[in-house]
Amino acid sequence: MTGRLRVAGDKSISHRSVMLGSLADGVTHVTGLLEGEDVLCTLAAFRAMGVMAKGPEQGRLTIQGVGLHGLRPPAQPLDMGNSGTAMRLMAGILAGQAFDSVLIGDASLSKRPMKRVSEPLGLMGARIDTHEGGRPPLHIHGRQSLRGIDYKMPVVSAQVKSSLLLAGLYADGETVVTEPAPTRDHTERMLRGFGYDVRVEGARVRVRGGGKLTACDIDVPADISSATFFLVGAAISEGSELLLEHVGINPTRIGVINILKLMGADLVIENAREVGGEPVADLHIRGSRLNGIRIPEDQVPLAIDEFPALFIAAACAHGETVLTGAHELRVKESDRIAVMAAGLKRLGIAAQETPDGIVIQGGRIEGGQVDSHGDHRIAMAFAMAALRASGPITIRDCKNVATSFPDFVELARRAGLTIAVVTN
Ligand code: S3P
Repeated sequence: MTGRLRVAGDKSISHRSVMLGSLADGVTHVTGLLEGEDVLCTLAAFRAMGVMAKGPEQGRLTIQGVGLHGLRPPAQPLDMGNSGTAMRLMAGILAGQAFDSVLIGDASLSKRPMKRVSEPLGLMGARIDTHEGGRPPLHIHGRQSLRGIDYKMPVVSAQVKSSLLLAGLYADGETVVTEPAPTRDHTERMLRGFGYDVRVEGARVRVRGGGKLTACDIDVPADISSATFFLVGAAISEGSELLLEHVGINPTRIGVINILKLMGADLVIENAREVGGEPVADLHIRGSRLNGIRIPEDQVPLAIDEFPALFIAAACAHGETVLTGAHELRVKESDRIAVMAAGLKRLGIAAQETPDGIVIQGGRIEGGQVDSHGDHRIAMAFAMAALRASGPITIRDCKNVATSFPDFVELARRAGLTIAVVTN
């Protein structure tokens, strides 16, 4: 793989741009927005609640904010598609509204756990009915008066933290969330960018209800989670050299850089700078020999979306790679431990699942057919495995690549991957 690329906009920041822009007073201009299906679901939800927005067009979106109390009741259930982020963060926002709403999702999202937000939001005074086992749809009753709580999160999840902080904007008094380990902090940074007072003291984040958001301009960096497929692709193929431009390197997201470097990747951070409150850099990577490692558990939340691709790096490394402390991977868009282990085995790699991780023996990747189970990141990870496979790899059920990285195939081709999309 060779060349210079700017991958798709950051998904987490794009969702939050739409949410906070819609709830702000004034006009928010966004550039670099991810025009992926997940973000488009969030945008469609706000449009269904009366928000006017122009775009997105080539990453540009202009949002006429309606203020924290300006949303209107949606006529229909709000469809969050494949997006856990959209559903969980919207639950926090909708819990504070003066109207009822229903959140639905696709087959994958309908299986994902929502009690992690409905329970603590309930402690704040929200009324949210879930389907059996705490799954979607979520029926959110409006007109509840929310009160701030002091909540210690039992799961390491930025989505839970963000949902509670967003509900906290509507609560009486202070909402305090303590996280067991650092997770992505885009909500905190962006609330501040919109002029909201957010206090962070170590693992505790505090907001007070009753304030307002003031519109601002947002430049969304390229998504390090999307860049990861190219980092791994270049790292595993000899003679590669790629420059990935304008990538967000927020310290809560750089697990993949740390892990690849521990494996021996030739990866250099260049031109580091700050853009709109988020650190950004160009990532320069060359192909090199990778070694299997024991992945430090403290890196897991910082690389939580990057494991499908990192497992491909492990399959190409010399020796054994061991991941532990990653049970959360089992409740992502698919069970990423089970689905990746099955796919790696299909390609001749020894991969052993454990309850909270996987053990992978580096080896020779064979061609074959794998099933992504509709999980965008699994599909893109196996596409990169083809760079080292002895025969072609066919990946089934790939349409959800469009949720986070609609131009993946085009960019992968431009970088040198031989890839074709077959629709049937
Ligand atoms: C996200 C948080 C992560 C991540 C997801 C996006 C966010 O989920 O997997 O893709 O934008 O807050 P968890 O916080 O549930 O781990």
